[in-house]
Amino acid sequence: MHLLTLETTCDETAAAIVTDELEVLSSVVASQDNLHERFGGVVPEIASRTHVERILPVIDQAIRNANLRLLDVDAVAVANTPGLAGSLLVGLTAAKALCLALDVPLLAVNHLQAHVYACRLAHGKNVFPCIGLIVSGGHSNLYRCDGPTDFTLIGGTIDDAAGEAFDKVASLLGLPYPGGPAIGNAAANGDPARFRFPRPLIDDRSRLDFSFSGLKTAVRYQVHGTGKLDAQASLDEQTVNDVAAAFQEAVVDCLVVKAELALEQTGYRTLCVGGGVAANRRLRERLEQSSAQHAHELHIPPMNLCTDNAVMGAIAIERFRAGKFESLDLDVFPGLERPK
Ligand code: KG4
Ligand code: ZN
Repeated sequence: MHLLTLETTCDETAAAIVTDELEVLSSVVASQDNLHERFGGVVPEIASRTHVERILPVIDQAIRNANLRLLDVDAVAVANTPGLAGSLLVGLTAAKALCLALDVPLLAVNHLQAHVYACRLAHGKNVFPCIGLIVSGGHSNLYRCDGPTDFTLIGGTIDDAAGEAFDKVASLLGLPYPGGPAIGNAAANGDPARFRFPRPLIDDRSRLDFSFSGLKTAVRYQVHGTGKLDAQASLDEQTVNDVAAAFQEAVVDCLVVKAELALEQTGYRTLCVGGGVAANRRLRERLEQSSAQHAHELHIPPMNLCTDNAVMGAIAIERFRAGKFESLDLDVFPGLERPK
């Protein structure tokens, strides 16, 4: 059985072919980073228009790379929640058109569940039940995951997502977009102890939530003072590296402490981490230390399965096995919680 999976939730246009044995036959990801770079963040209208231009060549490439023909596709899966409405619509419309033309079933993918499923794929065997920590440009959520598609939200950001904070702080420091990798590289040469930034909500053991907006403001005040933002202000390289390191340490502290708290409160023994920020070296290192200390199982996929990709859409195989097919009037659900 050959499943074609599509991913267009944000600014990556991606397609993959996977089998019902979870074997990955091809994976194509067309990143739009260079188009959004000068705006310092994803511009939804540019993202959706670019998906329209790229979706068919990306699908075509995925099928060719798997040495298949279009007629060999047995089912199509598409991420239809959560994400940018205009971006989601492009993937969903392409998937529906293919299902109609090929007369094959349509399967829905929850993008956040798919990020956790990337851990299942990388591990090669079951990882459930587990705590899922999804940290990306759009989300910073903690889930109790009792099965691949059985998720309960137990914590989340009350303002900015972790990746968004990385992107905004990078912009304040004059570093390129996307900010995560740029901050990570600068931080590698910085002294995290030179500055001390706040760790919002970290001591509040009654909740598993994050807040990164105040942290971003604290960096802003450190860099530009409390007056008007001075775009011309230039920092020496060592200061940029030190601010980046101190900021990264603060974000990592919050993520590690709340993930541990979630494990402690639920009694679960496995942590699965996904989303673009999971590519952060310092976060990976700290989570490894913490899981060794508490004897938890930790799964973080390789970098290419952390950032957005279509391979993780293989989660749809679970729905395929259960016969959970969608009708062609399936809609997109941009928000976090899909209406009942
Ligand atoms: O999951 P993702 O590819 O897209 C969605 O937002 O769904 O995540 C992108 C985010 C961006 O904010 C980017 O700055 C961040 O992940 N990111 C990183 C790193 N690589 C990407 N953040 C920290 N360290 C990294 N190495
Ligand atoms: Zn994502």
